[in-house]
Amino acid sequence: MSDDPLILVLDEGTSSTRAILYRLDGAVLGSRALPISQHYPAPGLVEHDAEEIWQATLACGRAMVEQAGGAGGIAAIGITNQRETVVAWDRRTGRPLHRAIVWQDRRTADRCAALREAGHEPWVQARTGLLLDPYFSGTKMAWLAARPDVAAAGEWLALGTVDSWLAWKLTGGTHVSDASNASRTMLLDLDGRDWDDALCDLLAVPRASLPAIVGNTEHIGLTDRRWFGQAIPITAMIGDQQSATVGQGCNAPGQTKLTLGTGAFALTSLGSSRPTDPGRLLGTILTDIGGDRRFALEGSIFVAGSLIKWLRDNLGLLGTAGESEALARSVEDSGGVTLLPALAGLGAPYWRPAATAVFAGLTFASTRAHLVRAALEAITHQCVDLADAFARTGAAWDEIRLDGGMSANNWLAEDLAAMLNLPATRPDDVETTARGAAMLAAVGAGLYTSLDEARAMLPPTRRFDPRPDDQARATRLAAWQAVLKMSEGQKH
Ligand code: G3P
Repeated sequence: MSDDPLILVLDEGTSSTRAILYRLDGAVLGSRALPISQHYPAPGLVEHDAEEIWQATLACGRAMVEQAGGAGGIAAIGITNQRETVVAWDRRTGRPLHRAIVWQDRRTADRCAALREAGHEPWVQARTGLLLDPYFSGTKMAWLAARPDVAAAGEWLALGTVDSWLAWKLTGGTHVSDASNASRTMLLDLDGRDWDDALCDLLAVPRASLPAIVGNTEHIGLTDRRWFGQAIPITAMIGDQQSATVGQGCNAPGQTKLTLGTGAFALTSLGSSRPTDPGRLLGTILTDIGGDRRFALEGSIFVAGSLIKWLRDNLGLLGTAGESEALARSVEDSGGVTLLPALAGLGAPYWRPAATAVFAGLTFASTRAHLVRAALEAITHQCVDLADAFARTGAAWDEIRLDGGMSANNWLAEDLAAMLNLPATRPDDVETTARGAAMLAAVGAGLYTSLDEARAMLPPTRRFDPRPDDQARATRLAAWQAVLKMSEGQKH
């Protein structure tokens, strides 16, 4: 057991949930992860079992409490989570009323299209920074609340994103969400401190079911003694992508991180200026610390690590995700194969919820290595389009900070630097999502006086310099534009 105060982070992601134990100098003392089952009941539908999310999070948390020598050594807990995913539960029992609707789920695409056709998008975007896409929580909440088995809970119905669900379970009944998660629901004005009535009405979300909105470094409550043997204060909650931005030290306007997790998410810090014209990108709340709100511009790519998992689990092209690097290096190029990885529609900057994937350019000469390389290249191609979209809004990138499990793939890090023609850096510990929440929890617990001071927890980084090949770049991007065009013909 350590004498230093320790921080426990519960990082509940789409593919797995983990708990990581930090010392105040940023050293990682231990971590435990468990996978989360993905349910795909029909094309376009993606669900999680909220009870499994809770049990897995609790098990990982308990393993770290044990490693710390008991709850007494842990000064604070920080929660960070997959955003937009919605849970409906009964406040009387604390039991989910339906499977959680995951952020990738497209079931409300028609509802979003109808709202767009009715002319609501400019108003919604100006208020929330978001576009009318099924990605966001609001239409998912409305879908749940309209189901008779969920609506039957009446005044006992609780709706929330995964941060809320975990806070409720950990504290035994506190219903809160932090401003960064709340800003992904489409129910909050970017400057709002509380849910927006007009947005709740427009989307038909019962406001009384929603949590209270809190800042990122607030004392949410104490964990129920049942869970860790002793109560531990929860002093930070934050959406995972915003957390990774903090964990990459991206404070100053213009600083950008790109997290390669289940999906890929680029966030450029805007400081205290509210995004006014995000174009086909998203304006979002980055942090709210003691009422001081910071914003970011976001590009959300729906498929990254999940694409490699799909190649492994559904197509059997890989034994392990790690093999993808050696396979990509084993060929000179993709052999003319190009992949449009629209397995859950396409996110930024295209926003085509009904698009489906395309493998193009296959011949008898195509090998497994070509297909895998095309998949990795597809992640880069989407990032190149994001970089262009950021530049169009006046927020051009001058460096990119990589993180997330998939950034460990050196071939991909080199390819991103080359195709973006930018220097890329990668921290030695790529779990910046959890690190950001640890920094905020330390601030929330008063162990650091500010986020600036908490930068003492940032790890060293490695740099990848760009080695652009103009010819290869042009060929690849032309083939990419061609597969994107193919998806335009699909219904969306
Ligand atoms: O917006 C969805 C995002 O929060 C999911 O993140 O890390 O589970 O891919 P991740």
